[in-house]
Amino acid sequence: MIANWKMNPATIVEAIRLARASDAKNVVIAPPFLFLALVRDTARRAALGAQDVFWEGSGAHTGEVSTPMLRALGVRFVIVGHSERRALGETDAMVNKKVSAALRAGLTPILCVGEPLAVRRRGLTAAKNFVKKQLTKDLKGIGNCLATRDPVKREKLKIENLLIAYEPIWAIGTGKADTPGKTVEMVKFIKSFLVLSFKFQVTRVLYGGSVNAENVGSFLAEPDIGGALVGGASLKPREFKKMIIIAGGL
Ligand code: PGA
Repeated sequence: MIANWKMNPATIVEAIRLARASDAKNVVIAPPFLFLALVRDTARRAALGAQDVFWEGSGAHTGEVSTPMLRALGVRFVIVGHSERRALGETDAMVNKKVSAALRAGLTPILCVGEPLAVRRRGLTAAKNFVKKQLTKDLKGIGNCLATRDPVKREKLKIENLLIAYEPIWAIGTGKADTPGKTVEMVKFIKSFLVLSFKFQVTRVLYGGSVNAENVGSFLAEPDIGGALVGGASLKPREFKKMIIIAGGL
């Protein structure tokens, strides 16, 4: 499970409390940049994730954070292309540069894709086409950054240093999660599209969007769903602890 804290909490004290409650082996904590070092020192079992990254290594880029900075802090994962960032103007071309920079730096990008409500209303096929277009642009040229450059080997080998999170926009923060059945269909589609079009296999496609203690078990029980990206529920220590127990017991 990936705990995406987004722009929370407000204070160091709260961040420490939350990090302690979320500290488990199968968890990645993705706090705001400001709390990365704190979470690293507080949560010993969980892995560390960032919520974004810039593609340049250093220089005059006010407000940005680079891959060497994240690496030096012990960050292993980085969320890229979250719909909340895309809504602020992050384009597929920018997402593509970020995925590439993360991979080249040895970080594991968690690439977020997913369709808006208007598209999903037209059906799952329309949603698949939307996601396909995002993946095509976001992963352009990415094969060259992956551990195994031989396309034949890549297709058989499972690439572990790239994760995809399917996050339908209408499910994020709304309390209306997708169904595990439809998610599985989308996950299978994403996996086969990547093999077909990019000649690589990803080990995990995660689901995100209103995952909570009540529904996490039904998503993670599906062998095709490789994990959950959790926003709101990751900020509730008691609920998230419950989720960790459910995830660990599966
Ligand atoms: P949510 O957010 O769990 O609050 O729906 C998920 C996400 O945006 O990653």
